[in-house]
Amino acid sequence: MRLVTKIGGSLFKDDLNHQKISAHAQVLREIRRQGHQIVVVAGGGEIARKYIESARSLGASEAECDQMGIYVTRLNARLLISALNDDAFPEVPETVEELRKYFAMGKIVAMGGLTPAHSTDAVAAIVAESVNADLFVKTIDAPGVCTEDPKKHPGAKKLDEISVGKLLEMLQKKSLVAGAYELIDPVAVRVIERSKIPTWIVPGDDPANIRRALDGENVGTKVVP
Ligand SMILES: Nc1ncnc2c1ncn2[C@@H]1O[C@H](COP(=O)(O)OP(=O)(O)OP(=O)(O)O)[C@@H](O)[C@H]1O
Ligand SMILES: [Mg+2]
Repeated sequence: MRLVTKIGGSLFKDDLNHQKISAHAQVLREIRRQGHQIVVVAGGGEIARKYIESARSLGASEAECDQMGIYVTRLNARLLISALNDDAFPEVPETVEELRKYFAMGKIVAMGGLTPAHSTDAVAAIVAESVNADLFVKTIDAPGVCTEDPKKHPGAKKLDEISVGKLLEMLQKKSLVAGAYELIDPVAVRVIERSKIPTWIVPGDDPANIRRALDGENVGTKVVP
């Protein structure tokens, strides 16, 4: 199977916990060794948000703030490459064309953002589309898609399944500024919709959830395109 996974804020906290990064890499290596092909897209997490806030305070444009975030995501991807070792392609693609070339080499491709005004969620969905992925798994710092943001509403309920239409409705009121705290970028949801990409949003606290989604287990939230 061809798997595209997006790993964001649940892994890239500002302490950059190497054991957690290593545990995620280990799961991806095991999946690769079972014959699957993988692209892992690193998000920016807390670190990117700090750079973006600082740049914005210094008067940077939103495009510059986005670019700042992209650099951080590419550094995060490099951390994954370090952890994946021989299982990873050693370079981070900076365009979809490069991604396709690197992907054809058979190793795990780790990448970050591509261009301003595109979140890494959108990048991951576009990558899933480009490589004709069988599965897109986004890990999040939450139990899955919940009725409300569980960080702000402790009573929020995790949904086992959500349609793209309902998901887009939930996202309508959210802001689009660089580094905004969002469940998932609506652009990613539109791409999932147009290409009918089988998608799971799973809790990132246990990297084995990526494998569980691949195995068809009931984990996190299934997004129905
Ligand atoms: N309805 C909701 N259900 C679940 N999570 C939600 C919801 N609304 C907002 N969130 C928040 O969305 C966030 C998504 O987590 P994610 O790991 O993608 O974080 P992130 O910091 O945005 O990562 P990245 O920087 O890579 O985009 C969670 O922190 C969660 O609190
Ligand atoms: Mg996000």
